[in-house]
This record gives sequence, structure tokens and C-alpha cells, in this order.
Amino acid sequence: MDVLVTGASGGIGTALVEKLVREGHRVVAMSRGGLEMEGVISVRADVTREEEVSRAMGEVMRTLGGLDAVACLAGHGDPNIWRKGLEELAPIDLLDVFRVDVVGTFTIVKHALGLMRPGSSIVLVSSSAALMGDTWGVPYAIAKGGIISLGMSLAKALAPKIRVNVVAFGPILTRWVGWMGEGELACIRGRTLLGRLGDPEEAAEAIYFLLSPRSSYITGHVLVVDGGETIGPGPGWCTQA
Ligand SMILES: NC(=O)c1ccc[n+]([C@@H]2O[C@H](COP(=O)([O-])OP(=O)(O)OC[C@H]3O[C@@H](n4cnc5c(N)ncnc54)[C@H](OP(=O)(O)O)[C@@H]3O)[C@@H](O)[C@H]2O)c1
Repeated sequence: MDVLVTGASGGIGTALVEKLVREGHRVVAMSRGGLEMEGVISVRADVTREEEVSRAMGEVMRTLGGLDAVACLAGHGDPNIWRKGLEELAPIDLLDVFRVDVVGTFTIVKHALGLMRPGSSIVLVSSSAALMGDTWGVPYAIAKGGIISLGMSLAKALAPKIRVNVVAFGPILTRWVGWMGEGELACIRGRTLLGRLGDPEEAAEAIYFLLSPRSSYITGHVLVVDGGETIGPGPGWCTQA
């Protein structure tokens, strides 16, 4: 496959690019800072700047000649958004996250469409926060909810030529955990049925499956990859202990 990965320099993005290269696919890795990795074409673009996205797609066309798959992982990376409760949040905080995650994803898909071959696949990335809500990171939960709606709309609009699916991740062990204390991490681990965070490689496997022809009859689906966080350790869990 010829694949475009946005957010390629992040924890999950890097694991996905490594997996794609290992499996013999050609990859364009996009982020603002770039990703230096052997065998990978690195393209710098800010997903909130349409002219940069358009220029980057020109680079994709020149190097790959078309696309079979697009994985949209670029996400707002400022942890300060998580430290604000409802009363501290300003409307601009919601717009900032929405602009990167939802509008940025839309812009990527809009400009990639002309390059995508019949039978292509698009994967968008959401979060368990979109399904459960969150008391912190409210702008993030809202934006990730928007990603699910965007994914479902795209699946309908682009069928049958292109499949579109969404992966909703629970806690994955990337740089995000670097600004959490041990108490917070223990709490997050305890929210999952598996009692741990996921590895970026486990997250990458789920995206890879939906990008590849192995998932050829799946479109308009939200795959929850969260170690059981969304259903949570409910009453049955405690009575079995
Ligand atoms: N880790 C988790 O627990 C978790 C859980 C649920 C969902 N997710 C979602 O999964 C995706 C990947 O997560 P991650 O943990 O790997 O994230 P990460 O390490 O924070 O990486 C974010 C990526 O997005 C890129 N990016 C940020 N703003 C951008 C912009 N304006 N234009 C272009 N690229 C931009 C960053 O590169 P540059 O800064 O160089 O641009 C980086 O490559 C994100 O959408 C995240 O919200 C993660």
C-alpha cells in the first residue's frame, strides 16, 4: 500500500510508520516537525494551514503517484488543556483543539481524496473520552466526538469507493503520560479492565488492520481499543474479587 500518516512523529504515529515500513509499504509521514526514519518520506505541514496541506499533497503525488490509505493521527498536543476544569475553560480552548483535531482531519481528507485509488481506506483517530465524557480535557472529548461524526459522515459520502473507520483509543503509553504523576497513572490503569495502559505498537496494530484489505468489509465502524476502559470495572468485577 501507499500510505499517508499524519501525526507521524507522535508515539502512536511512529509505531504505525515503523509497522508499515516493516510490512513493505511506502509511507509519507506528515507532521509539523518532520520524522527522520529510514525508508520514509517525511513531509512537514500544519494540518490547520490549508495551503501547507495542499502543498504536502503535491509532494505525495510526486513521490507516490497516489494513495491506498490515509491515517489521520494529528492531534492537539498541549497538555495544559487537560489542567483546566469547566470554570477555567475559555471558548477559545474548545476552538483550539477542534481546529487541529476535527478541522485538520477534514482538511487532510479533503485534499487527499483526489489522490485516493478505488478500494482505499481512511482511518481517523478518536478517544474513549468521546464515548464516556470527561471532567477534565473537555475540549478534547468534544473534538474527539466530532471525529466520530466526521468519520461516519465520510463513510457514507465516500462509499463504496473508499472505506472510512475510526479507532477510539483508551490510555496509550505515549509522551502524554510524561506529565502525569504516579497517582494519576495508577488511577488510569485502574479504570481499564486489563489494568494497564496500551503500548503504541498495540494501538498501531488496530489502525493497520483498518487500513489494510484485511478489513475489506468494514466501513463506518468505531473500533474501541481501550483495554476495557469504556465499559470499566463495574459491579461484577468487584463481586468476583
Ligand atoms: N496517547 C493516548 O493515550 C491517546 C488516547 C486517545 C486518542 N489519542 C489520539 O491518538 C493520536 C496520536 O496520539 P499520540 O499519543 O501519538 O500523540 P502525540 O504523541 O501527542 O503526537 C501528536 C502528533 O500530531 C502532530 N501534530 C500536532 N499538531 C499538529 C498540527 N497542527 N499539524 C500537523 N501535525 C500536528 C505532532 O507532530 P508535530 O508537533 O511535529 O506537528 C505529532 O506527530 C492523537 O490524535 C491523539 O489525540 C491518543
